[in-house]
Amino acid sequence: MNLPILDAPDNAEESYEDPLDLMDEIDRLKKERNAVVLAHFYVDGEIQDVADYTGDSLKLARDAVAVENDVIVFSGVHFMAESAKILNREKTVLIPDLRAGCSLAESCTFEQLRDFQAKLRGEGREFETVAYINTTAKVKSLCDWIVTSGNAAEIIERVDPDKEILFVPDKHLGSYLQEVSGREMILWPGACMVHEIFSVQDLLRAKRNNPGSEVIAHPECPATVLEHAEFIGGTEKLRQYVMSFEERKTFLVATDANMIHAFEKSAPQHEFVPVPGIMTDTGETCACNRCPHMALNTLQKVRNCLRDLSPAIEWQPYFEDAHAVLERSLLR
Ligand code: 13P
Ligand code: SF4
Repeated sequence: MNLPILDAPDNAEESYEDPLDLMDEIDRLKKERNAVVLAHFYVDGEIQDVADYTGDSLKLARDAVAVENDVIVFSGVHFMAESAKILNREKTVLIPDLRAGCSLAESCTFEQLRDFQAKLRGEGREFETVAYINTTAKVKSLCDWIVTSGNAAEIIERVDPDKEILFVPDKHLGSYLQEVSGREMILWPGACMVHEIFSVQDLLRAKRNNPGSEVIAHPECPATVLEHAEFIGGTEKLRQYVMSFEERKTFLVATDANMIHAFEKSAPQHEFVPVPGIMTDTGETCACNRCPHMALNTLQKVRNCLRDLSPAIEWQPYFEDAHAVLERSLLR
């Protein structure tokens, strides 16, 4: 079956190597390099299995600060590894594939945000800028607060109540936060390429075909999906939620399908069904519930970056400003 692939680079250059050999080599190199591997829940299960720490954006950023190793391999996407470096100037932070970007981070550039903020100020509006962590360091340096899906509601409560909130770049997370916090926001029009294309029709069919099931959804999904969800949360909150049920249940999962690996490890008593993406013009349901940027992480590239100590995130002058806002938002 010829399934459409979301527009991103692929791993075509890799030749086959035995995954078990690669895992052994990674373990050996970790010791040699005094390194740890951090893996986001959206990377392939076999990478999560060789990782020392797995988690959501918030937990992994905190883990990166807590570990005492000289070298961190951040298996995730660029903004995550960059944030780890910003919080750990003295550590070497490696990323298996430098091309692993994020459609949300790409939707809001430094220049666009700087100009929009200037326009709002020109209109005499007083506001604080709250950015989702899925942004570049340059964008973070223009912001007052950084949130992750794990701490967003708490951070919104810390924003000066006499000021407006400019929320960037995810309009869906922003509108969900408006509802939860009761605070109106100026929303940047960005969206995640993966969460935006879940099919509501297929979700409703899956719900009907699995009586008693619950829909669990990431707040990056549009409101049309979230309105059918029994529980909404970032990846770690979703994991905690499914773990809270002892009796077997069926969960319909509206987030990256690799999350199911973490769910099955933490709560093997349940059944997890991925919600498919939209129907294509050929009538097929696409396999686009996988982030193509996260998919650039492979065992081979984890091994290569540990072996070569490259690619690494290099310190940039604008990291100083991004450090101040990241530290205040995630570590205090
Ligand atoms: P979490 O912070 O919930 O792990 O989400 C990160 C992300 O990029 C989701 O698409
Ligand atoms: Fe970015 Fe979406 Fe991929 Fe998360 S799933 S890293 S928001 S493109």
